[in-house]
Amino acid sequence: MGIESSCDETAVAIVSNDKKILSNIILTQLEEHMPYGGVVPEIAARSHIDHLNRLVRRALSEAKIGFDDISAIAVTSGPGLIGGVMVGLMTAKAMAYARGLPLISVNHLEGHALSIRLTEEISFPYLLLLVSGGHCQLLVVKGVGDYERLGTTIDDAAGEAFDKTAKILGLGYPGGPAVEKAAAQGDPNRFKFPRPLKGKPGSNFSFSGLKTAVLRARDQLSAEQDGKLKRQDICDLAASFQKALTDAILDRVQNAMDYYLENYQNKNKMLVIAGGVAANSSIKEQLEGLCDKRGFELKAPPMNLCTDNGAMIAWVGVEKFEGQQFSGLDTGAVARWPLDPDATPAIGAGAKA
Ligand code: KG4
Ligand code: ZN
Repeated sequence: MGIESSCDETAVAIVSNDKKILSNIILTQLEEHMPYGGVVPEIAARSHIDHLNRLVRRALSEAKIGFDDISAIAVTSGPGLIGGVMVGLMTAKAMAYARGLPLISVNHLEGHALSIRLTEEISFPYLLLLVSGGHCQLLVVKGVGDYERLGTTIDDAAGEAFDKTAKILGLGYPGGPAVEKAAAQGDPNRFKFPRPLKGKPGSNFSFSGLKTAVLRARDQLSAEQDGKLKRQDICDLAASFQKALTDAILDRVQNAMDYYLENYQNKNKMLVIAGGVAANSSIKEQLEGLCDKRGFELKAPPMNLCTDNGAMIAWVGVEKFEGQQFSGLDTGAVARWPLDPDATPAIGAGAKA
């Protein structure tokens, strides 16, 4: 059983060791946070408390099994919004203790990183682009618990940039899908927005300057038009933003590919993308083009496993169960838990990277 509660999804799933997803229940708190235009940690934690027990029961009944058929409880114990993480972890501990089951503490990022192995036969190592609302990283996935981080964001995550841009353009929350939809009707070349860090060595990301550029362009346009923005202006701003962000990501991925080829010779030439932003078809298309050019294969888990879910946590549970990597009941919730502890923390990288 896998439990996820680190952000605004309460999720419980049951996955077998032969890669069958027996149940995968995801309850999103979207509507509860909508009036605030973003996730409110206290509301998220309280909502996890309200729903988690019921979702555990539902996950068992949908899988048509009982507690006696469960071999271990895997749970996200970080990184994430600490109140929510604590709710999931305490619930998992209580069940593990009451049922005498092993507890497996899971890094949320590792859930994203390994989920592709749940749906496909992929061996280590591979290159991973993790792009979500809270994270934006490039990593070499070398094994379970074994990562080399090539880059992370020095300010906003890619999904966060989409969400903030949506807010600036009055497109609502969550911003990613709304910006993508508006962008499809816009001119991506109308505004020349910056491509942060493009051309610089390394694979770090930066998106806050881009967001500010969108804000300035909006204000200037609105001042020129008596405070009014036309629908076409909004679509053009969205399209130009999405193009700049995609260009910046592509540049960073190219550097990561160079590094990977140089340092991991004769290994899988594979780029895996995960996280909510992987839903963006324009970004995916561009990455597909880059992969073709560089002889890499692009892989992405199905959409419901790209965004936050319990199955990816249960799957890490399966992988760790094989190595008997169990955790004690004294395991604590952590807000910050890098996958590669040797990587230098990026300046201003927020609390989670
Ligand atoms: O992985 P996820 O569900 O949650 C975490 O942040 O862990 O990712 C959510 C993020 C949000 O920022 C959302 O705006 C973004 O993914 N997103 C998208 C799209 N769909 C979701 N960004 C761009 N294009 C999309 N189609
Ligand atoms: Zn996530």
